[in-house]
Amino acid sequence: MREWKLAVLPGDGIGPEVMSLTVELLEQVAREEGARLEMNECLVGGAAIDAEGTALPASTLEACRASDGILFGSVGGPKWESLPPKEQPERAALLPLRKEFHLFANIRPGLLYPELVPASPLKSERIPEGIDIVCIRELTGGLYFGQPKDTVTLENGEKQSRDTMVYRTSEITRIAEVAAKTALGRSRRVCSIDKANVLETSVLWRDTVTRFFAEHYPEIELSHMLVDNAAMQLAGNPNQFDVLFSENLFGDILSDEMAVICGSLGMLASASLGEDQNRHGHPFGLYEPAGGSAPDIAGKGVANPCAQILSGALLLRHSLGEEAAATRIETAVRRAVEKGTRTGDIAFEVEPVGSSAMLAAIRAEL
Ligand code: IPM
Ligand code: MG
Repeated sequence: MREWKLAVLPGDGIGPEVMSLTVELLEQVAREEGARLEMNECLVGGAAIDAEGTALPASTLEACRASDGILFGSVGGPKWESLPPKEQPERAALLPLRKEFHLFANIRPGLLYPELVPASPLKSERIPEGIDIVCIRELTGGLYFGQPKDTVTLENGEKQSRDTMVYRTSEITRIAEVAAKTALGRSRRVCSIDKANVLETSVLWRDTVTRFFAEHYPEIELSHMLVDNAAMQLAGNPNQFDVLFSENLFGDILSDEMAVICGSLGMLASASLGEDQNRHGHPFGLYEPAGGSAPDIAGKGVANPCAQILSGALLLRHSLGEEAAATRIETAVRRAVEKGTRTGDIAFEVEPVGSSAMLAAIRAEL
């Protein structure tokens, strides 16, 4: 019997409610697929700070280590905003998890179904068929983790801080490889984003990427774009891209821009893949919705569970090799939305439903 062993980290805000619906759905899928599903639910983020005084307790890390992959909800909220920045749930839970599990590749599909085009802030004429692109972000290098990183007081009394952008060729080629493999399953077009007119790291990035594709993936059409231009192009004509990829901070910003043009954060899933393989021989990874904890709607039963559910589908695909099961879930979400069952964030000319009704509609399409 196939075994799916997940660490389930609901976190804060809408995290726990959309996670419990996702767990229900995964239980159904496992039953129908004849897989044994074991889920270990753990505290993370503000919930863990309240209960154990730390955003990422050792027991949570332990459960993650023992799993095939992590299904993550969302962390943070007004309650913890007064903590020092380094102790806040987002920074104290997510960044250490990325570092601990070497989660170097963040994959965010930017998918806007044609029937949800009115949800996008872009004019419908620009995206008549919706949007279908993938943003790949390097996640463990660059300014987030580069050393030195510090704040000192200078002799004249003023303060000075440093963050360092560092990349080595091996870090660039391994993310380029993820972009290439993603493109092979799509339209074989990749755009690498950098700031090679100014930054040393970007000159190395562009050079390394160019050589890597020429040597290993000559069949893929590679282009390069400066990040400021890419931000503009994404807002004007997103479908000119297919797979785009970049270093950590550029990817952080561009992936949020992509999220907003795709209408609702409630629909967008993400995968953060590590270098290490799990016991099934697939990449270990962390899977989370793009949207965050949305404290304003938490506890009201109205949050859109699709992003969390679709993150579960990505986990099945990437960390468990269950392509068929992943596609079943994605198709069910799409059909439910197409037929007009929609939470408030994506309801146009239809009466919005609550989170549980959304789940019921998706389950009915499975
Ligand atoms: C993201 C988030 C995080 C990041 C924050 C919460 C640390 O914005 O996953 O995109 O900057 O990477
Ligand atoms: Mg971000």
